[in-house]
Amino acid sequence: MSDERPVGGPTDGGIATNAYAVVAREVFKSYPTPEGDLPILMGLDLAVRRGEIVAITGESGVGKSTLLHLLGGLDRATSGQIVVDGVQLDTCSEIELARFRNRQIGFVFQFHHLLPDFTAEENVMVPCLVGGMKLEQAARLARGLLEQVELGGRLHHRPAELSGGEQQRVAVARALANNASVILADEPSGNLDYRHSGRLHDLIWRLVAEREATFIIATHDRALAARAHREIRLEDGLARELPRGAAASYLGDRGGSDKS
Ligand SMILES: Nc1ncnc2c1ncn2[C@@H]1O[C@H](COP(=O)(O)OP(=O)(O)OP(=O)(O)O)[C@@H](O)[C@H]1O
Ligand SMILES: [Mg+2]
Repeated sequence: MSDERPVGGPTDGGIATNAYAVVAREVFKSYPTPEGDLPILMGLDLAVRRGEIVAITGESGVGKSTLLHLLGGLDRATSGQIVVDGVQLDTCSEIELARFRNRQIGFVFQFHHLLPDFTAEENVMVPCLVGGMKLEQAARLARGLLEQVELGGRLHHRPAELSGGEQQRVAVARALANNASVILADEPSGNLDYRHSGRLHDLIWRLVAEREATFIIATHDRALAARAHREIRLEDGLARELPRGAAASYLGDRGGSDKS
């Protein structure tokens, strides 16, 4: 175990404390390639308290989506410990991971992954039905969530009949449908214009206040990163907390976006 504590993490060495939505310790992740293993995360430490909104930033290809997939139980770390919402993922069976994903995590994918043959309403209903909710109740919940993301007028459109930003907002509504306490969002405002990304940010802040949800958001959106409680920057396979107000000077003359 390294001398370094997780970013913003507990100082007592305990990893599964209730105050933390996420604790990751010495996480390594490599992808096997024909040329050999490609290391992406190299001993990453991270801790996020419940009710926090954390922006994960860093250049394209640095491993933001990779990290979110590990935290969401969608992929496994090569080594290291990850505890999310009290569940130690690295010791879970596949069945336990599936249950964890269904019940405890809301995930907004970078590229939506909406079901193409299902309407917006049905896409949002899926996590509720998987969780055992009755059809009519799931439909009511889905309609309410779609209204919250201003898509009450697009309930019966399939993904191909929605704009990119509308698809992204359906994906956000779907991620909220299972009432998860930890929501992992990968570029949730990537396709949204200024007004809609502002509305989405307002929704995130409202949910944190109402549900005490925790949001971990991978983003290139400087406005979102600046508004988040914390900004954690990925670099060289590690996570580094940016002191508040430091992002602007870190970015130097690259200005309003760190897209690369
Ligand atoms: N299944 C895979 N096999 C091999 N390499 C992969 C795989 N998935 C991702 N990678 C590589 O891992 C690196 C990190 O990818 P990741 O998608 O996590 O980046 P990111 O920080 O989310 O980037 P972006 O800002 O563009 O979304 C990239 O260089 C990518 O090519
Ligand atoms: Mg990504």
